[in-house]
Amino acid sequence: MQNITISIRGGKPLRGNVAISGAKNATLPELAAVCLSAETIEFLNVPLVEDVKVMHAALGEIGAQGEIGDNSIRVAMPVLRSPLVSLQTARTTRASVLLLGPLLARHGYAKVSFPGGCPIGERKINFHLQGLERMGAEIHAEDEYIVARCRRLKGIEYDFPGKTVTGTENLLMAATLAEGTTVLGNCALEPEVTDLIDLLKEMGADISGSGSETIVVRGQTGLHGASHRVIPDRIEAGTYLIAGCFAGNDIHVLGVEPEHLGSLLEILRGMGADITVSAREFHIKGGKSLAPAEVTTSPYPGFPTDLQAQLTTLLTQASGVSRVRETIFNDRFHHAGELNRLGAEIKIEGDTAVIKGQARLRGAALKTTDLRASAALVLGGLIAEGKTIIQNSYQLFRGYENMPDKLQKLGADIKIIQG
Ligand code: EPZ
Repeated sequence: MQNITISIRGGKPLRGNVAISGAKNATLPELAAVCLSAETIEFLNVPLVEDVKVMHAALGEIGAQGEIGDNSIRVAMPVLRSPLVSLQTARTTRASVLLLGPLLARHGYAKVSFPGGCPIGERKINFHLQGLERMGAEIHAEDEYIVARCRRLKGIEYDFPGKTVTGTENLLMAATLAEGTTVLGNCALEPEVTDLIDLLKEMGADISGSGSETIVVRGQTGLHGASHRVIPDRIEAGTYLIAGCFAGNDIHVLGVEPEHLGSLLEILRGMGADITVSAREFHIKGGKSLAPAEVTTSPYPGFPTDLQAQLTTLLTQASGVSRVRETIFNDRFHHAGELNRLGAEIKIEGDTAVIKGQARLRGAALKTTDLRASAALVLGGLIAEGKTIIQNSYQLFRGYENMPDKLQKLGADIKIIQG
């Protein structure tokens, strides 16, 4: 899967329906939650993307038994065969750090390699480790591994020093089997956290405060099996919603949770985009000239950092100069240099991208570095005149299910030219 190159011939209008897959960033913590029970968990609406396959493989390495079906996974962890999550697995996706909490809670031991993942800036996990240590874990580094041990985790009161999605998820899962009650403050509010809480409750966990910044977990002695349907992927949905805004496009984005994308809808409508929202669908008609925007990324319900690159591509076509400020990660503008190779004019000033509008984009050979930058470059290739080649497109397949197929069905001239 590593040496994938995508070729796009731009300028084709995108018209028709696109169905949104399950959320990668809900599936990953939910697969880690399998370690909390010896019984089978069945997941439906699973996106079969690379990061999910890697996490499923990681579970297999430590003792899980189960199989991947048609957008479904049935898996159980009857016994922990090995507490070691291999280097290779952990390096491919950061999400392996999500195994720390559940393994400590159920087995009292975990050995996970320091997380890898996207080169989008410093990806610290100090809040995860601080919280687990407060719960009684002894944690140290052994070569490139994090080794964690504890007899039984104890409930604590802990306010996260900063918003962290996987940090909230790690401690939530650890608390479900801890002794006593845990009160977590300043929790992340992302829908993927709420969906994980729904699963944990379905497994018998005693959790209150879901959807708020203060979550209370009363520890249990064990959790049981469950069946869970994963929420739709709001970042995939937002990516196709942005694609629909380009001139000449007319897309129905199906199977969405509109309230998960309130901040993006507000920005796009503020730019003049013509979007109709129904129960589980967006209808977006591109074409009108769009006004520029001033955007700042922030934790949910603010504008998501995971849509920052994709929106930047759209802003290269706005009728004036836009500014996009990235406040979550300190190095998440790799897409800007590549978009400039297509003919965009984006300048980076500290934590802000200044984007000149009405850029005429022409095909070029591009290289992508991270998952969401890949999507931004695909959007650029779809509107650039001529042919665009995007190397290292493996990144795209880490988080978008069948994106080339979905775009071809909408009329795009896009294909994988190396596999
Ligand atoms: C999750 O990453 C998502 N990944 C990311 O999506 C997303 O960009 C991010 O949340 C922010 O929304 C998954 O859910 C698997 P954080 P996560 O902990 O949890 C700092 C994608 O493209 N921080 O919320 O790793 C950290 O350095 C990916 O799908 C600490 O300082 O992000 C960062 O600056 C990319 N100490 C900020 O907080 C910590 O202990 C937010 O990080 C933890 C985080």
